[in-house]
Formats: sequence, C-alpha cells, structure tokens
Amino acid sequence: MPHFYFVLTNPEVESLLKIEVKDLKLAYSRPGFMTFKSECPVRFNPKMARLSGLCLGKFKLSELKMDKAWVWKRDDSYILPDELKDLTEKTFYRIGEKVTLIMMVGPDEFWVGEYELLPTHFQTPGEVSSILEKDVPSRAYYKIAEAFEAFDLPFEEGDRVLELGSAPGGASLFLLDQGLKVLGVDPAEMDPEILKNKNFKHLKKPFETLGEDTFKDNVHWILSDVNLPPTVVIKEVGRLLSFLNPKGVILTLKLNQPKHLDLLDHTVDKFHQAGFMCVKLKYLPSHRQEIALVALLQDLETGPKR
Ligand SMILES: C[S@@+](CC[C@H](N)C(=O)[O-])C[C@H]1O[C@@H](n2cnc3c(N)ncnc32)[C@H](O)[C@@H]1O
Repeated sequence: MPHFYFVLTNPEVESLLKIEVKDLKLAYSRPGFMTFKSECPVRFNPKMARLSGLCLGKFKLSELKMDKAWVWKRDDSYILPDELKDLTEKTFYRIGEKVTLIMMVGPDEFWVGEYELLPTHFQTPGEVSSILEKDVPSRAYYKIAEAFEAFDLPFEEGDRVLELGSAPGGASLFLLDQGLKVLGVDPAEMDPEILKNKNFKHLKKPFETLGEDTFKDNVHWILSDVNLPPTVVIKEVGRLLSFLNPKGVILTLKLNQPKHLDLLDHTVDKFHQAGFMCVKLKYLPSHRQEIALVALLQDLETGPKR
C-alpha cells in the first residue's frame, strides 16, 4: 500500500526540495504545497520543508468533521468556509501531540495531514511566521526573530554577539532590542539608526580579517548571514571557534547550488564534535534559498525555558 507525505515550503526553495526528496515520487503539487508517494513507510523530514508530515489525502468539505484541527490556507485571499472558521482558535496542541492540519490548497480544495508538534515548531498552522511585520532595515530581522522564537534562544541581557555580515542591520536591530551588545562585521554600510546605538560597534571589513587580537573579550554568540557559499562560512566560523568560545552559533547558510545540500549533515556532525550539545537545522518561514543552523552548548530540551 503506498504511503503519502505532504510538504509546505516557500517557492524559492521548491526545486531544491524536489532534489532532496528525489527518491520519492512527486504525486501532486501547487505552489507552496506538494505531496510525495512512497511504496514503503519512510522517515520523511526534508530539510528544505517549512513543514512536512503524513498526508491523509484530499477531502470534501462535508467530510471534514474534526473538532480538533488547525487550518492553513495556501493563499490569504481564500475565504474559510463557516465550518472551519473557529477550528484553529479553539484548538491547542501540546509539544509531542499529533497535529491534524487541514490544508486549504484551493478555494474549494482541502487536504489533511498529520505531524508531531516539536519544541522547535511554531504554534501556528502551516508554520507561518508568528513575528509581526514592522519597519526594519532588512528581512534578516525576521530570520533571527524566528530563530529566537523556535529555539527559545537563551539570550541574556548584556551578552556580546559577533555578527558576521551585519549590513544593513535587520538582525542587529533585533539583537539590540533584546538588550545584547553587537559587534557587526561587514564591509558594507550599516543603517545610520543602528550606528547610533551605543551597544553597536561596526568593523567595516571582511570577516576573513578577524584574528584573536580583534577581541578584547570573549563573545557569547556568533551569528552569520554572510552571502558567501556555505563552505566559506563554515570554514571561517570554524577558524573563529578555535579562539572564541560562544555559548551558541546561529548561521544562515545560503544554498545556492544543490551540492550545498550534501554539506548539511556533515556540518551538523562537525558542530557536535566541537562540543555543541544541540545542533539543529531549520527552514524558517522568512527563508528563501537558505537554512538556519543553530548550535548551542546547552541541550534544547533540558535547558531553561523562557
Ligand atoms: C544577507 S546580507 C546580511 C543582512 C544582515 N544580516 C542584516 O541583518 O541586515 C549579507 C551581507 O554579507 C556581507 N558580506 C559578504 N561578504 C562578506 C565578508 N567576507 N565578510 C563580512 N561580510 C560579508 C555583505 O556585504 C552583505 O551585507
């Protein structure tokens, strides 16, 4: 009996996802929604998916009689039928519970999927961002805000962050708002408002020029959003880790070529070997052709919760 799996992801990464899931047969797709068929049950957890799980199939509205489910719409313009209107609001899922997700893929097209709610999942149908939009210098604001939310990052007021590729300053803005001190390294210009903040310092040069003598104090966090191939970023961060001892590293790895997918598992292993207890990859709602790698000295599940 065939087994079906669903994927929700962002349009920029769909072709990469199809390469990643090449061993399964693509069964159905609409922009942002795909189903795959397998002849035997598999552990289906593609890295390039915002959300994935078991696909129970396509249903008529009259067949959707659940009293507990979340409802996701592929397009904001779709009007939810009355039967489904309050379902999400009245449904709460705990970590570890099986989420039933009704996916409204077209104005009158409903699919149902199931997945286990993990600590790194957002409490939103379809893993859409829970971060409110605001006037920020760049999209990187949302990337770090979403990583903070998903991983419950243990930022503490006064923590020093080395931010690689900091211009124009979306991520810096989020970090400064959390009470952190930021050393931003980027040859490009920072937003003037960020430069005014007394907790921000700009090193206007490439990160390859940083040496042990650059740092008077240890840094608590290393963040990178440098738009260079992941091989370069991973190598340079590895070099920095030979003399810095942060409690966490948060990298946005740009996956401009399919071969970059093959790097990811090996990179996770390397961070484990370097002593990081918790090393995870997550495709965040604000991501394009990229993925977040979060490495923490403390374990995520056992560490303190906010
Ligand atoms: C996606 S943008 C970063 C966005 C930024 N994190 C923010 O919050 O607004 C990528 C940045 O990497 C920077 N970059 C590229 N090569 C670099 C290098 N060798 N060292 C440091 N920064 C670099 C670019 O100048 C660019 O500003």
